[in-house]
Amino acid sequence: MAILPILTVPDRRLKQVSQPVTLVDDAVRQLMDDMAETMYHAIGIGLAAPQVGVLRRVICCDVTHAQNGDEKKPVFIANPVIVHQEGDICWKEGCLSIPEYHAEVTRYSHIVVQGLDRDNQPLELKATELMAVCLQHEIDHLNGKLFIDHISALKRSIFMKKLKKKKDEA
Ligand code: NI
Repeated sequence: MAILPILTVPDRRLKQVSQPVTLVDDAVRQLMDDMAETMYHAIGIGLAAPQVGVLRRVICCDVTHAQNGDEKKPVFIANPVIVHQEGDICWKEGCLSIPEYHAEVTRYSHIVVQGLDRDNQPLELKATELMAVCLQHEIDHLNGKLFIDHISALKRSIFMKKLKKKKDEA
């Protein structure tokens, strides 16, 4: 397993739409395992393949290890699709690709996701609360969407100005 470099804004690859995986083979499993290692190393709760520069529809989540120190139980999904969604939840989100920035985002509180698991088997997952938030956040990444795309245009422009200032200073 390897820790991969995580892309950060404004890397253009974060704005691209990722391609489906045709089969979860050894190469995809390797990607999944590397993503998990990268996520745990960064103390994140989720990671999407485009964040490590691979434009394929693969995500990894573990909402309990980083927060509670529970045993590592990464959930891998290839080609995730939300097949049911309801309710509202507002969560203060962050993203490994957007360091040092957090903002409240409203998403669905209850979702059902289908896709392929690490063994290329069909998977259906019911998720609520933080897991639902995390899955929606990671699936957004596969469509080139970041959590800052959910906040108001005013908040986003303040964020972009701060980011530009930080880049100029660096
Ligand atoms: Ni993210």
